[in-house]
Amino acid sequence: MAQPQAAAHPPRRLLFGPGPTQVEPSVYQAMTQTLVGYLDPYFFEVAGEIREALRQVFGAPSAYTLAISGTGSSGMETAVTNFVKPGSKLAVFAAGFFADRLSEMGRRHGATVVRAEKPWGTTFSDDEAREFIRRERPAVVAFIHAETSTGALQRPHAICEAAHEVGALVIADTVTSLGGVPIGMENAGIDIAYSCTQKGLSCPPGLSPFAMSGRAIERLNARATPNPVWYLDLKLLRDYYDNRKYHHTAPISTFYALRQGLRLILEEGVENRWRRHLDAHLEFVRGIEALGLKMLVPQGERIPSLNTVAVPEGVDDARVRARLINDYGIEIAGGFGPLAGKIFRVGVMGPLATSENVRLFLEAFGKCLKEQS
Ligand SMILES: Cc1ncc(COP(=O)(O)O)c(C=O)c1O
Repeated sequence: MAQPQAAAHPPRRLLFGPGPTQVEPSVYQAMTQTLVGYLDPYFFEVAGEIREALRQVFGAPSAYTLAISGTGSSGMETAVTNFVKPGSKLAVFAAGFFADRLSEMGRRHGATVVRAEKPWGTTFSDDEAREFIRRERPAVVAFIHAETSTGALQRPHAICEAAHEVGALVIADTVTSLGGVPIGMENAGIDIAYSCTQKGLSCPPGLSPFAMSGRAIERLNARATPNPVWYLDLKLLRDYYDNRKYHHTAPISTFYALRQGLRLILEEGVENRWRRHLDAHLEFVRGIEALGLKMLVPQGERIPSLNTVAVPEGVDDARVRARLINDYGIEIAGGFGPLAGKIFRVGVMGPLATSENVRLFLEAFGKCLKEQS
């Protein structure tokens, strides 16, 4: 029987979802450059440029950075498997789906996971953060900086301060924030941060930018037992990227893409990029309110690059989303878990974070909503 064949060319989409987001043409072009080997000096030049640029984007001039081969989840697993020891206590701030995933990884690595839990869409106050950490006195604290399932942005400072007081390391999931939102890793006191390429960096998925502080490196160096996950063992990965010793075949073309994506960010200037995303977000919120809709997350706790809009009474969100993609080629996402059917998740990131694109989106969104209500 003949196998069904997909069309040779993918449909053109405007990626207004939480990720993957719109990719710049020069990033696609970078991926078509000829391959070199995984030990070629040119590959290490590319990796070196990426590592330097990541320090700037993470806001961590003295951090150790690298790009893990794999999507954002590989960064999460790298953080857990290298720094959360079996039998140790991992404290997680949980108010969304990705905090649950991180907790599950902690359990699978044999940690005792304790959780501060709040409803999806909320964040933890400085007092709540301090109280939880001082009471639990964990070895490692983890939080989701930008919770993609809800659109809430967690303030890192009190978490890091209290964690350091009790001698704990801090892991921050910056999968949705890196590139679109300032992280200020060093200033906040985050020890380990991981991200992805397909959201705020506007590249295809495939690598997980990773950064660690001097404190994290000390903890890593002091680890006596070998990491049970060979592929994500940071000691082995350091040997590859620093000492050019074969570990695995790095996805070379994806490195080319990330290098170009980061070049575009540095050319624009990181501060300018964050400001552009914030401006686009503010315009988006004004437009949403003008349509009579409400944002899920209170002002001041929103991720500027990922908006969550409450689905109005009587509107079927799946039908609105289907209409958007079929008629306008615009992809957005719905909610899941406790927020299923209750929110639209709209990413305004990378090349789409402009006034013109926000207006284009709002016009199409407004029409699709009207048809449904
Ligand atoms: C906050 C957060 N953490 C982790 C992940 C996992 O990343 P990936 O799907 O690239 O493996 C995601 C993906 O959306 C995310 O939003």
